[in-house]
Amino acid sequence: MSAVQRSNRSAVISRLGEIGVVPVVTIDRSEQAADLGAALLSGGIPCVEVTFRTAAAAGAVEKMTVTHPDLQVGAGTVLSVAQARQAVDAGARFLMSPVVDLEVVEWCGSNGVLIVPGVMSPTEIGRAVRCGVELVKLFPAEVAGGTDALRSFAPVFPHVRYVPTGGIDEQNLSRYLEVPSVVACGGSWLAPRELIADGDFDRIEQRAIEAASIVRGVRGTR
Ligand code: 3PG
Repeated sequence: MSAVQRSNRSAVISRLGEIGVVPVVTIDRSEQAADLGAALLSGGIPCVEVTFRTAAAAGAVEKMTVTHPDLQVGAGTVLSVAQARQAVDAGARFLMSPVVDLEVVEWCGSNGVLIVPGVMSPTEIGRAVRCGVELVKLFPAEVAGGTDALRSFAPVFPHVRYVPTGGIDEQNLSRYLEVPSVVACGGSWLAPRELIADGDFDRIEQRAIEAASIVRGVRGTR
């Protein structure tokens, strides 16, 4: 990986840290991607993880990337190199996965793409670290022990940082953001599949405004 690729990955991590929240979205119709991106942007959460669980995912990533260059668009549920390639070709700036897949991690490393693999235990964190990964997704965060688990991992893995995801919403977001090793929190509560399907972008924007306010309250960065 070149120095430029490395600095691009660091820049994306810094940006995710400033934003503090990664909305996890599942889109059934890519035509809705531009409106969804606009709602998140105007709500103050300029970031999104489009899960590769629907046929519309790659098209949605491409539409958001083209329509909203200021939006940090990533892909989620990336389980294979084929999906990773498809997501990056569509314009994804980072990839999230529920697992540590060695082939995916290696492909991302060779191509300078930020991959955030999913972990749930010290053994899995250790595996990710051995692959050269600096940022992991604690998933499913609440089931894996939540903030207690994150604080317990810190002395053992002092350089590892996290994007906890799974069971986080506006009720417990601040608690996670207070953990020093947390870069940002992922979750579907801002833009659940039903709200997107209903085209209720006003509510999504409102939830983004609330989330951005919680991030400001904890970190005072914005
Ligand atoms: C995901 O879909 O990646 C996570 O499960 C999101 O979890 P949540 O729906 O509990 O936010």
